[in-house]
Amino acid sequence: MQIYRVGGAVRDRLLQLPVYDNDWVVVGASVEQMLAAGYQPVGKDFPVFLHPKTHEEYALARTERKSGQGYQGFEFFASPQVSLEEDLQRRDLTINAIAEDDAGRLIDPYGGQQDLQARLLRHVSPAFREDPLRVLRVARFAARLHHLGFRVAPQTRALMQQISASDELSTLSAERVWKELERALGEADPQQFLLTLRRCGALQRLLPEWQRLCDGDDDPDPDRASESDSGLDPDAYASPALRGLRAAVALGCDSRERIALLGCYIGPDAVQQLFERLKAPREYRDFGLLCSRHYRSLLDLEQRDAESQLQLFQALDLGRRPQRLAPFIRTVQAYQQAQCGAAEPFGQGERLARIVSALATLQPKALVEAGFTGKALGQELQRRQIERIRTLP
Ligand code: CTP
Repeated sequence: MQIYRVGGAVRDRLLQLPVYDNDWVVVGASVEQMLAAGYQPVGKDFPVFLHPKTHEEYALARTERKSGQGYQGFEFFASPQVSLEEDLQRRDLTINAIAEDDAGRLIDPYGGQQDLQARLLRHVSPAFREDPLRVLRVARFAARLHHLGFRVAPQTRALMQQISASDELSTLSAERVWKELERALGEADPQQFLLTLRRCGALQRLLPEWQRLCDGDDDPDPDRASESDSGLDPDAYASPALRGLRAAVALGCDSRERIALLGCYIGPDAVQQLFERLKAPREYRDFGLLCSRHYRSLLDLEQRDAESQLQLFQALDLGRRPQRLAPFIRTVQAYQQAQCGAAEPFGQGERLARIVSALATLQPKALVEAGFTGKALGQELQRRQIERIRTLP
């Protein structure tokens, strides 16, 4: 049997990016040989194993044939007769279809190195179509590699358009879509995820709530190098949401915060609908809803009276959940920067932080000891909180 390093690890090493995990392809071996060598099988349908010591993934060389619609409709054909070239051919992008042998020699039958040089995300073969998730993967790679100058090849975009125009995307499970989306939004240029999906028609199909967030930046001819597409300057985007994403990246917002930021542009009802459909994790839902409901209260905090400032503190439950403060401030600050420009200070955020520290020392316990109970206790606490907020500079 021969073993080759393959996929993202080879690609990222050639791009001089950090490599976190290795995938391996095994040619000329049977399932029985792998088990006998101590590899642990993963799942029951995939001919994939974990190395007994390193726990890295070793997959038997395989071809994939579609037996029905969508991801479920797959048949894997793995056998010792499947060649490395056949295995590489069923992969998504040429830059992901380069193998490396144990002597460091590259096996690259589909021009992956050339496309790395040319900065092209190009599909390997019509087999691309067999997994519609690849439309999202290409958009995710666009978000990750845009700063290096990568673009989607025109023929790949055409194929993505065909997939989106059919109803193949609707066969993807919510979990798979969510996972790609969550990773893509965490990349260096998350705007490119939205723009790539929009250009092929997949945004309207999968994430219709976000469709109009790209308005103004949807270059009808994305192959013409355009200024607004450069993504290097936040002001280069016309769309407030894409400018906001740029600002969020610069402020160090994580994926959860960036998704919540987009929620501010579409409103709580659409946020709720999107999160439910995608079965988003609870922490994403809660935070996204809070931001979309309350970002305005922070934006004009300094114009609000003490009662209203306290209401924001209560709505965010910052007394019990002070860890929400920094993410909320970062998210709303990104929104504000998209409107006003990066140089503006964010005094509202500082004020909310001061409110949280000032109210942290007001404990109901002291009031109980002073004899307050029931409704009177609540009223007295609120009175003192408002008083504290009023005395803040
Ligand atoms: N692959 C594919 N189609 C998919 C998923 C994966 O062709 N839908 C292939 C690609 O060759 C890919 C490899 O399997 O390079 C490993 O997949 P994965 O680990 O999901 O992605 P990576 O390319 O390694 O990228 P990442 O850095 O995002 O993990």
